[in-house]
Amino acid sequence: MADAATKTGIVTDRSALFKPLALGDITLPNRIVMAPMSRMRSNSDGVPSDLNVTYYQQRASAGLLISEATCVSRQGTGYANSTAIYSDAHIAGWSKIGDAVHASGGRIVMQLWHVGRISHSSLQEGGRLPVAPSPIARSGEILTPSGAKPYEIPHALTVDEIAGVVEDYRLGALRAKQAGLDGVEVQCANGFLLEQFLNDATNRRSDRYGGSIENRARLLFDVLDAVCSVWNERKVGVRLSPFSTAHDCFDSDPAALHSHVVARLASRDLAYLHFYEPRAGGAGRADNVTAGVPFVSEMMRTLYPNPIIAAGGFNADTAAAAVARGTIDAVAFGRNFVSNPDLPERIRTAQALTPYDRSTFYAGGAKGYIDYPKLIAG
Ligand SMILES: Cc1cc2nc3c(=O)[nH]c(=O)nc-3n(C[C@H](O)[C@H](O)[C@H](O)COP(=O)(O)O)c2cc1C
Repeated sequence: MADAATKTGIVTDRSALFKPLALGDITLPNRIVMAPMSRMRSNSDGVPSDLNVTYYQQRASAGLLISEATCVSRQGTGYANSTAIYSDAHIAGWSKIGDAVHASGGRIVMQLWHVGRISHSSLQEGGRLPVAPSPIARSGEILTPSGAKPYEIPHALTVDEIAGVVEDYRLGALRAKQAGLDGVEVQCANGFLLEQFLNDATNRRSDRYGGSIENRARLLFDVLDAVCSVWNERKVGVRLSPFSTAHDCFDSDPAALHSHVVARLASRDLAYLHFYEPRAGGAGRADNVTAGVPFVSEMMRTLYPNPIIAAGGFNADTAAAAVARGTIDAVAFGRNFVSNPDLPERIRTAQALTPYDRSTFYAGGAKGYIDYPKLIAG
């Protein structure tokens, strides 16, 4: 973090980050949220490992932990050792994480995920093709158990199959509740299934799930209805990444698309809306910051009355300033939470941050995962 305070020794006012915040029915003691981050360290069947329990417990001083993206079905899986929530074993694993976080005074919501076309038949049950709104392949290659392979042309979901996907989200949300977590976040970002439906580069359907913006947004709202049949909506958040181009997934008119989606989300009493700012869209793979893109949280603020969390390229001072201005209500930190398990305390006391080691983001094992030090061991 290029941090003015640690460089100059001048501590700017960060108090805005330490005011409690109600995200619907979830009360945060501070506004420093851990962003959802896939770290690929669950067991091969998607059941959380003991390493996962330690990792989340170490970071429990966050105002809120948002879990790594968690697959609601085998069909929704596209990466080895990503975590899941479609079996009793997944519930048992996640309840260990929830218990450990709660025992350390924290709160955790689960990010519900379906990768859509960002998968491969070798990762799917019975060697089936990955699914998507339309039969359009992503460019490039995906890592499979037998090496890198070109992305395949996905199977376009039928309307009946879409109903099955919605039911998978409902069951995932129910299982997250049975695991004792504090809420759920619907992942509608970063080029995965729900965003593939939203964006016109990936959705060429002509039925009620394609064409108009309202139709392309239908699956998101079907999923939200299903999730909110299980959870009080005041414990449900949604993540969007307007202007993202991740995984070749983009829209010809992102401002119109997202204004529509955000205005409709505003008619519900959700816990929060979470924007992944496009300037740091490639954070999982690179450190570059995209210049000349909108600050979407600021753009959407007037459309959305409930709390907004923003993520992407913040440091302690820019985060505190944006919260103090009221542009956003909380900041989610990703990469700096990887290497600073006690990030809130470091920000509060203007301590230097430990730099992260990108080579261990998805590498598996304890290194670069649970071995970053706290200021005070414990
Ligand atoms: C290792 C890594 C894994 C990520 N995995 C996810 C994920 O599972 N779900 C998601 O919505 N975003 C994911 N992201 C994006 C982060 O949530 C966050 O938006 C991004 O890192 C920008 O924030 P930062 O600049 O504070 O790092 C990931 C980012 C990183 C670095």
